[in-house]
Amino acid sequence: MGVTIEIGLPGQTKADALAVPVAQAPHGLGGEGGRIVDEKLHGRLTRLLASGELRGDPGEALVLHLDGELETPRVVAVGIGDRDRVDLDALRTAGAAAAGALSNVGGTLCWLLDDTLPLSLADQARALVEGTILGSYAPGRWKTRDDRTPRVFERIVLGHFDTVELRDAAERAALVAERTNRARDLANMPPNELNPQTLAEHAVGLAGEHEHLTAEILGPREIDELGMGALAAVGAGSRNEPRLIVLRYEPPSPTRADVLLGLVGKAITFDSGGLSLKPPAHMEDMKGDMAGGAGTLHGMGAVAALELPVRAVAVLAAAENLPGGNAFRPGDILRAANGKTIEITNTDAEGRLVLADALWYARREGATHVLDLATLTGAMELALGDLYAGLFANDDEWRDRILAAGNRSGDLVWPFPLHSRYRRYVDSTFADLKNASLLRQGSPVLAAKFLEEFAGEGPWAHIDMAGPGFFERSRGDYLGVPGGTGYGVRLIAELAEGYA
Ligand code: BES
Ligand code: MN
Ligand code: ZN
Repeated sequence: MGVTIEIGLPGQTKADALAVPVAQAPHGLGGEGGRIVDEKLHGRLTRLLASGELRGDPGEALVLHLDGELETPRVVAVGIGDRDRVDLDALRTAGAAAAGALSNVGGTLCWLLDDTLPLSLADQARALVEGTILGSYAPGRWKTRDDRTPRVFERIVLGHFDTVELRDAAERAALVAERTNRARDLANMPPNELNPQTLAEHAVGLAGEHEHLTAEILGPREIDELGMGALAAVGAGSRNEPRLIVLRYEPPSPTRADVLLGLVGKAITFDSGGLSLKPPAHMEDMKGDMAGGAGTLHGMGAVAALELPVRAVAVLAAAENLPGGNAFRPGDILRAANGKTIEITNTDAEGRLVLADALWYARREGATHVLDLATLTGAMELALGDLYAGLFANDDEWRDRILAAGNRSGDLVWPFPLHSRYRRYVDSTFADLKNASLLRQGSPVLAAKFLEEFAGEGPWAHIDMAGPGFFERSRGDYLGVPGGTGYGVRLIAELAEGYA
């Protein structure tokens, strides 16, 4: 935690390495800075490009050890791909590639910015800082031999003249990326350490870090008193009882007094499927079924740390879905807090149940614009893979805001339909709704239609992040490693910034 950001000309900066972005042929070294470095290295970069040892491909990073030619002891030439197509994603990946190549170095990294790239200097700074920090993330916290723990950069210097925009963009990016890594930590925590209670303790700790952020934890008693029969039922099979975790952010002078963002997160600390037990293969990944909650929690933390002038309330529905002696069953009919009755046809469709009560609670708190994040359906991952999350909304304007925030932040989202004729997918013979269907049709939209019944009045959107929320294997980009991705933190920060 706490990387320092500085702005300064490379020649005047003490750093452990100087990172030089390099594009693919025919451009190679584009900007003036890169050419000056190459000159001082007597054309070594040009020769490496000519020989094909350096190609400028995305994700490539070549470390050169110097002998006094520059102020830094090392240069890392980092590929950025096709110069004309360089975007935020390409520079995030470059940032991570440099961090990976220098993972035994650490200390200070100086990035050479390039005013000839088709991206503003502020955006370059933002993406390079973000990629460097996200790419330094190591998931092996539970290894007892830590001699392989990568060294991270404590200082990142942006090689350019100092400007307010550059500094703001870089500092904001560092803050949000660090919060994203904290959300990854939460998702990677084993379920014997992270349960609804310990997750609640994390929320209380987070609130303690920020002046205008407060936490309130509702336990099993309060959950029952409020009539949250769906959340209570999902949590009933485990000795680790459920919690409703509520964070409120009240900035001193909000720009819009009429807006209260409601951020709702699925926080199943372990999803065995319950009595509708999952098969054993990959069940361990279901420790990541609280990734939506983790993104919501640290997204809220980022909003508070950035002191954004928008009011927000976060509601995390935390439970452990186990097949214990008191577990809820297929056939049970539950009553949710909004009074609707739900026939349980599959206890593994538990996320929509806990979210039903959390959505109701967010509206009860006065949320005007609600967004829930959840690793909700395996079929969403089948459809979109590990890159995009699916977005469902009952309001076009709200959907477009989220779409734009997601795609700019790197937490990619793609819109899916919520047509009213899908409602029959959740029709029940006995109750108002059923929670799952045997028909293998449109499972993500079925789940979204279910949630819509609990979303109350006003704009609501749902992000099914089953694919990008938790990786079985690396995607080969700036997120680098398997496990939690921190999905949602960057999206929420970007979304909230839209109200500044
Ligand atoms: N947490 C799972 C969804 C999931 C699966 C997320 C794989 C990430 C990777 C969710 O609770 C679940 O089990 N959904 C079921 C619903 C079904 C029983 C209707 C699913 O999608 O298979
Ligand atoms: Mn499940
Ligand atoms: Zn689940």
